[in-house]
Amino acid sequence: MALTEVSGEAGARLPTGLPGFDRVLGGGLVPGAVVLLGGEPGIGKSTLLLQVGRAVAAVAGEVLYATGEESAAQVRLRGERLAIRETRLSILAETEVGAIVGEAERRKPALVIVDSIQAVREPALASSAGTVSQVREAAGALQRHAKSRGTPVILIGHVTKDGSLAGPKSLEHLVDAVVAIEGDRGSSRRILRGTKNRFGSVDELALYEMTGEGLREVENASAALLSERRPGLPGSAVTAAREGTRSLLVEIQALVGPSAAGSPRRVAIGLDAARLALLLAVLEGSGLPLSAREVFACCTGGLEVTEPAADLAIVASLASSARGRALPEAAVFFGEVGLLGEIRRVPSASSRVKEAVALGFSRIYLPAGNAADASGFPDVAVRPVDRVSDLLREL
Ligand code: TYD
Ligand code: MG
Repeated sequence: MALTEVSGEAGARLPTGLPGFDRVLGGGLVPGAVVLLGGEPGIGKSTLLLQVGRAVAAVAGEVLYATGEESAAQVRLRGERLAIRETRLSILAETEVGAIVGEAERRKPALVIVDSIQAVREPALASSAGTVSQVREAAGALQRHAKSRGTPVILIGHVTKDGSLAGPKSLEHLVDAVVAIEGDRGSSRRILRGTKNRFGSVDELALYEMTGEGLREVENASAALLSERRPGLPGSAVTAAREGTRSLLVEIQALVGPSAAGSPRRVAIGLDAARLALLLAVLEGSGLPLSAREVFACCTGGLEVTEPAADLAIVASLASSARGRALPEAAVFFGEVGLLGEIRRVPSASSRVKEAVALGFSRIYLPAGNAADASGFPDVAVRPVDRVSDLLREL
């Protein structure tokens, strides 16, 4: 059959009730799609999906929430905390995959949620729940159900600190989308990030705050990420990063200090370690020798920014820390640094400038090649830079 003759329309996507989650999914749940939501225990997976269950039940029909991990009463307690009164959200305390699929066949829900895939098992297999074979078998049965009925299915998968459990990892190729929920134990901030998506982009990101009444979306992500910045201190630089279809302002910090004996340490947190080494080498050749100093560089807010566009901010923060002088307060830096010390153009420059302007920044250091992209912003001092040495001189 010719590819163009294959029938099947796109089908309307089902909104999850959480705009950020929808964005990460590429615009809501695709009919028949299987989504794996991975995260460490206690991060808020069950909370998130109970909120999704409520929202979907309110607009699209019954939601079947299969809980193998907690009792129905425990889920009810969480539901009370979230003030859920939606009667079309049904709880099924069940661990046998056949029973879950059977219930879904009977009730034809708008959405099936399985909490968690590691707790579900196929009794025909001798192994215990959570083993690779069990997890794959159970996910396979749920996936066949999703595809044959067109019902979206969301699976919860536990991931441990040291990478991920054998189970969920082996599921990644089987499901249509993998979404990770991340965050620090000590902080209430949570980040939703797509790591695989057959129906959308994978660079989308959404910021949430865990509150007493569940997860709440952070409306202005840039403002939240910069909320703890202390302008006026050396070593801090703001960059405009791209996350999926959005630009996001984040603070890059550097600390350059004297080295103890031996080879000095180079530590990158939330940044690409190889790029940090490259930037240090470029700085060496641009009149800022740091080879004998210890260098720590980090992306704040629990984010990871590995795109080359952050180079200019990293260079600026390193120079600022090394010289003990703060950068201009209202400045944003973005641009890729080449091995020869040249500043190279980056994509989506005007969107980055726009986000900076929206947050009240008034001075933009960017690649000379991107200068035209900032021309539509009259209230901004645009500082095109061509070489790292030019930036150092200007600062
Ligand atoms: P949970 O969704 O149970 O995590 P997971 O399913 O990923 O293991 O949520 C875990 C934490 O979230 C728990 O420590 C309690 C906290 N929490 C809140 O802070 N506010 C809330 O409204 C809810 C429901 C949970
Ligand atoms: Mg849970």
